[in-house]
Amino acid sequence: MHADSHSAPVAPGDWHARAASLRAALDRHNYAYYVLDDPSIPDAEYDKLFHELQALEQEYPELATSDSPTQRVGGAPLPQFEQVRHAIPMLSLGNGFSDEDVVAFDKRIKDVLSDGLSSETEIAYATELKFDGLAISLRYENGLLVGAATRGDGATGENVTANIRTVRAIPLRLHGDDPPHILEVRGEVLMYKNDFAKLNQRQRDAGQKEFANPRNAAAGSLRQLDSRITAQRTLRFFTYGIGVLEGAPMPASHSALLDWYVSLGLPVCKERAVVYGAEGLLAFYHDVGAKREKLPYEIDGVVYKVDRLDQQQQLGFVSRAPRFALAHKFPAQEALTVVQDIEVQVGRTGAITPVARLAPVFVGGVTVTNATLHNEDEVRRKDIQIGDTVIVRRAGDVIPEVVAYVPESRPADAKPFEMPTACPVCGSPIVRLEDEAIARCSGGWVKCSAQRKGGLQHFASRRAMDIEGLGDQLIEQLVDKHVITTAADLYRLGLTALSELDRMAEKSAQNVLDALEKSKSTTLARFIYALGIRHVGEATAKELARHFGNMDAVMAATEEQLLEVADVGPVVARSIISFFADGLNVELVNQLRAAGVHWIEGAGIDIPAKTLAGKTFVLTGTLPTLTRDDAAQMIEAAGGKVSGSVSKKTGYVVAGAEAGSKLAKAEELGIAILDEEALLALIQNGPQESPEQAVAE
Ligand code: IVH
Repeated sequence: MHADSHSAPVAPGDWHARAASLRAALDRHNYAYYVLDDPSIPDAEYDKLFHELQALEQEYPELATSDSPTQRVGGAPLPQFEQVRHAIPMLSLGNGFSDEDVVAFDKRIKDVLSDGLSSETEIAYATELKFDGLAISLRYENGLLVGAATRGDGATGENVTANIRTVRAIPLRLHGDDPPHILEVRGEVLMYKNDFAKLNQRQRDAGQKEFANPRNAAAGSLRQLDSRITAQRTLRFFTYGIGVLEGAPMPASHSALLDWYVSLGLPVCKERAVVYGAEGLLAFYHDVGAKREKLPYEIDGVVYKVDRLDQQQQLGFVSRAPRFALAHKFPAQEALTVVQDIEVQVGRTGAITPVARLAPVFVGGVTVTNATLHNEDEVRRKDIQIGDTVIVRRAGDVIPEVVAYVPESRPADAKPFEMPTACPVCGSPIVRLEDEAIARCSGGWVKCSAQRKGGLQHFASRRAMDIEGLGDQLIEQLVDKHVITTAADLYRLGLTALSELDRMAEKSAQNVLDALEKSKSTTLARFIYALGIRHVGEATAKELARHFGNMDAVMAATEEQLLEVADVGPVVARSIISFFADGLNVELVNQLRAAGVHWIEGAGIDIPAKTLAGKTFVLTGTLPTLTRDDAAQMIEAAGGKVSGSVSKKTGYVVAGAEAGSKLAKAEELGIAILDEEALLALIQNGPQESPEQAVAE
């Protein structure tokens, strides 16, 4: 390669300096990205520097040092992993699952340490996360990474140095001028959730097996005999312990050890603290629990360690675990169970969803008996069969899903899933359009009661018409007993019909009627959303309302006009057109309007006239039909502002039942007070000028 092809001007013979400076720059960027979590340059810039160094080293092989970032690409496959004996064994942790376990742990420690402590002194603990990856020991000699081994059985592990060298989160050389002679760093190798998702996407695209979870993906990547494969997977690393240390003083506490690691350029997780006593431990546990889902990696609990190393030594070990540490586990998010059957459910749009019926299993803090399999392709891709033992996952509030089956446990009589050809509810043919992943019942809501139920449940739901008390079960009954067919029928329900239903006293029947009455006053956006047009979610409904301002315009819109709406693409536009091309749907809208369902036309979100521009409103008390959000939305749609407190600048105070001090203040300041009806009139007509003003004009 010729000198001119390098981006930076370098005098001939200065290649050495240039290579060193490139190496240092790449290391710095790696450190910023993986350790500080604060990227310093775009990926493309990094790649440019990287390729420059690579080219230099190829041209002048003597420039390539063993700690060069270019050495992270992996090498020839190994025939097998060598066994490595750990000079200091890698232990496991005792587990705790409840507050009581934590209190008992703290008490045990206090009891052992009681000699040197007054009875009130709380123990200082270093708290950290329990990473869900795999343990690794890294050996640095005079600052240079020379070896890496898995935990194995704790005494002997596997030499995975070639793989570990590809992990950019792990420094090939420690920072600082005076590294210890020998340092064995212990920690966890893991994969971030987003890197896991990307990896699985790549596996899918390549027709290869997906990994069940980030932990398996990390383990699979690290235990590759071909380190070039490991190099293509983004692994991370967090330190949490130490093995051999020679040639530097041992820090006095665990927290000081981690601080020292930070100064050596090793990745230490920021989610750590020093706390006191059981109370401090539990507070940390709950803090972390609250943000668990938001962390970019998976954890299965937190770890408590007595902070002072002298105290750790005094406490010693029980069997294979230190007495000074405890892993406080979160409820498991994954569990094994058996698929007893695979059935299909029919959704409101006719979508057929295969659902696994499971032997009851406790996971994510609840007992799970069903888990979605999403669609036919997903069942095939995951190759889930009836009779399989499967990993079921329930994370946070997400609906339970089947992650993978366990091949070793597949019984000889396992039965593959077959997509039925007819809807299990109405018998209509199930069809699957060529370019769609979803199979659907072709019955529509006229023939298929499952679609009717789903559509009505959606119509009544909180974010749609918000009909309080009209729950899913009630709708099922109403449909099953043929009391109602369409949403318009809801508004024809009488007290007698409702009271005759199971578990329905007259009082609750009246409540439902009141809620129905209240729901009649709505917004255009909610109404559009409630219709359950395919592909029209809440956001699209709002955009449609904002854009067209009234229902007739939405119904009459051409595809071209629809495409002008933010958020609306060809698929959505066609779905809206075909919805209103169906006379039954137009009829439904008209019947609902005739039944008294109303909204302020033009006020969906946008009132062209901006009747309330420049006016500030304060809402107080409960309005008879509008929620506070609805009222605020309408005011803002009409160009007004909503404020939380009453001042001389307030234009109007909208007061409902049980209005408090804000109403009193408005009266005191002589500010106009409106009830709901007056507010709605004001939004529609704008402020009416008083006769004096008219004269003054
Ligand atoms: S300390 C002396 N700290 O949990 C104790 N381990 O059950 C050595 N782990 O094999 C482990 N996060 O893979 C420690 N913050 C943490 C950890 C942690 C995850 C894993 C590690 C170990 C297992 C022990």
